Amino acid sequence: MGRARGHLTKGADDMAQPRALICDDDDAVREFLREVLEGEDYLVEEAATSAETLAKAQPGSPMPHDVILLDVKMEQDGVDVLKQLRDRGIEAPIIMMTAVAPGATAAAAIQNGAVDYLVKPFDSPESVAQSVARAVAYERLKQGGEEAQFLSVNVDPRERIIGVSPQMIEIFKLVGLVARTDTTVLITGETGTGKELISEAIHASSDRRNGPMIKINCAALPESLLESMLFGHEKGAFTGALAQHKGLFEVAHRGTILLDEIGEMSLSLQAKLLRVLQDHQFERVGGTEPVKVDVRVLAATNRDLKTEVRDRRFREDLFYRLDVIEIHMPPLREKREDIPLLVSHFLEKHRYSPRSSPARISQEAVEKMRAYDWPGNVRELENVTQRAVVLSQGQVITEEHISFSGAFSRPLIDVEQRVRAGATLADLTSELQREAATVAMGLNGNNPDKAARALAITTTELGRLVEMPAAVKEPA
Ligand SMILES: Nc1ncnc2c1ncn2[C@@H]1O[C@H](COP(=O)(O)OP(=O)(O)OP(=O)(O)O)[C@@H](O)[C@H]1O
Ligand SMILES: [Mg+2]
Repeated sequence: MGRARGHLTKGADDMAQPRALICDDDDAVREFLREVLEGEDYLVEEAATSAETLAKAQPGSPMPHDVILLDVKMEQDGVDVLKQLRDRGIEAPIIMMTAVAPGATAAAAIQNGAVDYLVKPFDSPESVAQSVARAVAYERLKQGGEEAQFLSVNVDPRERIIGVSPQMIEIFKLVGLVARTDTTVLITGETGTGKELISEAIHASSDRRNGPMIKINCAALPESLLESMLFGHEKGAFTGALAQHKGLFEVAHRGTILLDEIGEMSLSLQAKLLRVLQDHQFERVGGTEPVKVDVRVLAATNRDLKTEVRDRRFREDLFYRLDVIEIHMPPLREKREDIPLLVSHFLEKHRYSPRSSPARISQEAVEKMRAYDWPGNVRELENVTQRAVVLSQGQVITEEHISFSGAFSRPLIDVEQRVRAGATLADLTSELQREAATVAMGLNGNNPDKAARALAITTTELGRLVEMPAAVKEPA
């Protein structure tokens, strides 16, 4: 063991040399780590007890350690030592080491600010060196005031919809133009491009902003249910219709209604909708009295309605009624210049904890995001950013925190956690069924017929499984 070499002297040559503190009660482990780290040109110090660890890691030292490797099991609990180090203001990255299978301790260690968790016996000297190098590089990135390395864009936290690309500027202008009118607007674009968000913007900048904004997803419900949701029904209109019920068109009176996924509406409902657009009136299901309403209609779809018209799945007359103004939301890959801004926006929006400041993100990480194609568009970007915030503990997001594969699909049910929480087999089965229905809808362009076929169930069964539509009433 190179005792003398571990002695710290403050010489000019030491300035750039990283310093490590190894804390373990096992001599052999300390010796192994010293060899590995000295091989990587570290200046190494050792501590064999918790007390020695706390004494050597002096806060405010002019030569702080760049990394601390801390055994979980010395005479004092390692996680406690970790907490004490943090409480004393020691900021060096701390790597925990354990000889027992990591479980709750690993979680507790990470939660208390450990950057990594190594299991003894170590896989190889290289894996240890790698973990240490990563921790030190990461810390330098965090400390290094070279702001140019980080994305720095100012976003207004009050803005809900963001964009600087020429396409988005054109869209904002168009929203301004249509807002004052009662014109029907058809909002098109791939999934996750912001169709719903733009519909909200139209409502919010219109004279109807103090009225209700109602959204209904036409793909999520079987036809008969959708009809009575939209138009309401009279008492006794069908079995179970115990009282008169107002439809969403009535609820949306003096406000705006968004018919989301309009491409999925059945032809017979399309006829009824056409009449509302022409005459501003309709009858409730099972009723004869016309109901008059003053509602602005917005429609959204990720289908190409012209093709739907050609294939006779969508009424041509309704198409022309809806398509007075079309706002096409471009896919994210066609407006990559918005990515840095959107990332900043989502970092503001998704803090690690309520009291954290927004995470920072390295330029390399942003470049990685700019290069990707984003099949799930802005929604996927938001998910990936949110995930990176968690993985980086809300500190600095680097390339390694950015992963795309599977990030767009929803997380599967955490069976263990659900069972712990007291879920029964019946609960889990129905959760899995709902999950499957949602996934199948996503994979089949939100077409309930196709999704049902994929799962070999009926469309009605699928309708029951898919979540109820978001018929949200905006506060005035
Ligand atoms: N320009 C933008 N600025 C800020 N957030 C955005 C923007 N575009 C989309 N988002 C966010 O991305 C997510 C998806 O947007 P939205 O629900 O409006 O998409 P959509 O086109 O309706 O998708 P789908 O077709 O799947 O229903 C939302 O969380 C939304 O807030
Ligand atoms: Mg939508």
